[in-house]
Amino acid sequence: MRHFLTLKDLSTTELSTLIQRAIVLKRMHKDGEVYEPLKNKVLAMIFEKSSTRTRVSFESAMIQFGGGSIFLSPNDTQLGRGEPIEDSARVISSMVDMVMIRTFEHKKAEQFSQFSTVPVINALTDDYHPCQLLADMQTYVEHRGSIDGKTVTWVGDGNNMCHSYINAAEQFNFNLKIATPKGYEPDELIVASSGANVTLFSNVNDAAYQSDLIVTDVWASMGQEEEQKKREAAFSAFQVNKEVMSLANKDALFMHCLPAHRGEEVSEQVIDGPQSVVWDEAENRLHAQKALLEFLSANG
Ligand code: CP
Ligand code: NVA
Repeated sequence: MRHFLTLKDLSTTELSTLIQRAIVLKRMHKDGEVYEPLKNKVLAMIFEKSSTRTRVSFESAMIQFGGGSIFLSPNDTQLGRGEPIEDSARVISSMVDMVMIRTFEHKKAEQFSQFSTVPVINALTDDYHPCQLLADMQTYVEHRGSIDGKTVTWVGDGNNMCHSYINAAEQFNFNLKIATPKGYEPDELIVASSGANVTLFSNVNDAAYQSDLIVTDVWASMGQEEEQKKREAAFSAFQVNKEVMSLANKDALFMHCLPAHRGEEVSEQVIDGPQSVVWDEAENRLHAQKALLEFLSANG
């Protein structure tokens, strides 16, 4: 049985096959082809944090695949009343075919997977957001072809998305330049344990130079709301704007996992401009996760 807690749970070959499959599934969907490989299958979706894209894409994916999903929030389940994660994992996985979990500590997702009898998907933890990377990689391939050997620049917080970009750099073989303010670098262990070509910068312009893809994310992630003001001050020189994009290669793309704060981590001109592919990126959550669900159920 396979889980998908980080990008490292799949091999490079499996990931590349999955991206190609996502592109095929997207075409089939657009052509109106009915394809129901998960008929009568159920996905449990545990959300301890808010979501728009992740929830809509997983629910739609399950419906389109002929199955169904159950939305579980801590407010209306025993998870919110302290039922041990091990017990919840045993019970929930005994009744469904796959589980998706969005939570705080990454350890919690790992713990859930250890006691689950079905595949578990990480739909974002404080440390990683691997599903988003599947969509990002699909989007790059669709617009520009292979990302192998290209240069990607991460601007902003060394957060869950940044960590998944570090994993992606290793798995998809691109160079990753990370620009963060001091004190907001990605986790040292994740950087050190990565076989990827990762370089840390404290200046956005140096990191953006001759890049093929510029990516950013919010300055304060879910769970860090009370740090918003402090972070606005620390990150003020880390906005992706026209000047930053002009240092990258001419055909560079801009991505953001969304939700975005225009005027903070990205200027309106950039996110709503010609180099931005954020809407394709968001839509691809559906197609990439369909490929993931199909893969995990075949290997489940
Ligand atoms: N990008 C992303 O995961 O969005 P949601 O928080 O809306 O699911
Ligand atoms: N880093 C953000 C990503 C949201 C999809 C967060 O964790 O809130």
